[in-house]
Amino acid sequence: MNILLTGGLGFIGSHTATVLAAEGHEVVIIDNLCNSQRQTLDSLESITGKELPFYEGDVRDAPLLKEILQKHHIECVIHFAGLKSVAESGTDPLKYFDNNVGGSIVLIEAMQATNVKKLIFSSSATVYGEPQYLPYDEDHPLAPMNVYGRTKLQVEEILQDLSKSDLDWSIVCLRYFNPIGAHESGLIGELPQGIPNNLMPYICQVVSGKLPHLNVFGDDYDTKDGTGERDYIHVMDLADGHAAALEFVDKHKGWEAVNLGTGIAYSVYDLVSAFEKSSNQTIPKVVKERRIGDLPIYYAKADKALVMLGWKAKRDLQSMCDSSWKYQEQLLKLAK
Ligand SMILES: NC(=O)c1ccc[n+]([C@@H]2O[C@H](COP(=O)([O-])OP(=O)(O)OC[C@H]3O[C@@H](n4cnc5c(N)ncnc54)[C@H](O)[C@@H]3O)[C@@H](O)[C@H]2O)c1
Repeated sequence: MNILLTGGLGFIGSHTATVLAAEGHEVVIIDNLCNSQRQTLDSLESITGKELPFYEGDVRDAPLLKEILQKHHIECVIHFAGLKSVAESGTDPLKYFDNNVGGSIVLIEAMQATNVKKLIFSSSATVYGEPQYLPYDEDHPLAPMNVYGRTKLQVEEILQDLSKSDLDWSIVCLRYFNPIGAHESGLIGELPQGIPNNLMPYICQVVSGKLPHLNVFGDDYDTKDGTGERDYIHVMDLADGHAAALEFVDKHKGWEAVNLGTGIAYSVYDLVSAFEKSSNQTIPKVVKERRIGDLPIYYAKADKALVMLGWKAKRDLQSMCDSSWKYQEQLLKLAK
């Protein structure tokens, strides 16, 4: 299929591009590079051995989108482009509604106008909010606790309404849990700008000497070792999940939301020990107060993805840490 990846040079989009290209799909990318770098395109081309058409542009640019959709005979769009900092979404909500919700509306209108009606949307486990029960299944009440999560829920709702108004649409909203890890080549991975918000990129910067220690926000939660537990999922498993969702949207119409997680909760200390093993280094830690808004534990019920998409995460925590470390080593070599 001819597939447009919005935000395709970002962390999840770039890994997904490698899987789709390997499966023989024609991948086209649009990205405004607000949180990614052009060199990732070179890495993608060396991994895939293919030249991937790339447009440096914004999903809020309707004429550009229509041009790309028509010129490349796009059949399906995977919409990764979005801003993802929970903290920034609270201090600059309009930026998030404009980019994540406004950007999605412009994209959907351009697709409607060019008769492209297959869409996979990057949603998030944050749409669930405070757990009423665990693991979260897709029927769990939706009550995001922050602006970022609300932008994801709003887009999901717009897409659901759209699919009811026009039965030709085929839409899957993938609710990602906590993607970490990197491509096995070590050529692409997560490249955050500035001080990272998430645990794995933070650990990588501690190990590479850019940050002095890891802050552990709370070690007195009611969890197995007192630290927060999350459903970390290897980004290559997540990428495989998109390939499975693509097959699904090609054959079914309507709207679906599906969790992509492993169904396993790993603690901060689980991740730290696995990373210490990968890197053969000790990670200095400082325990701090709990952060407001952090949940003690959450993880996915991943059954729907298995039944509906035939997809299941295969890679374990050690392989997530080994691949992140391999990517980190590559970055350190390049910096020398
Ligand atoms: N990484 C996670 O933990 C996580 C979890 C749940 C959901 N998500 C969602 O998945 C998607 C991809 O996440 P990621 O981790 O790869 O993030 P990322 O920031 O690495 O990738 C997003 C890409 O989109 C681009 N972009 C942003 N706004 C754009 C716009 N208006 N026009 C064109 N390009 C734009 C950025 O430059 C970046 O390359 C996002 O929508 C994010 O909200 C991510």
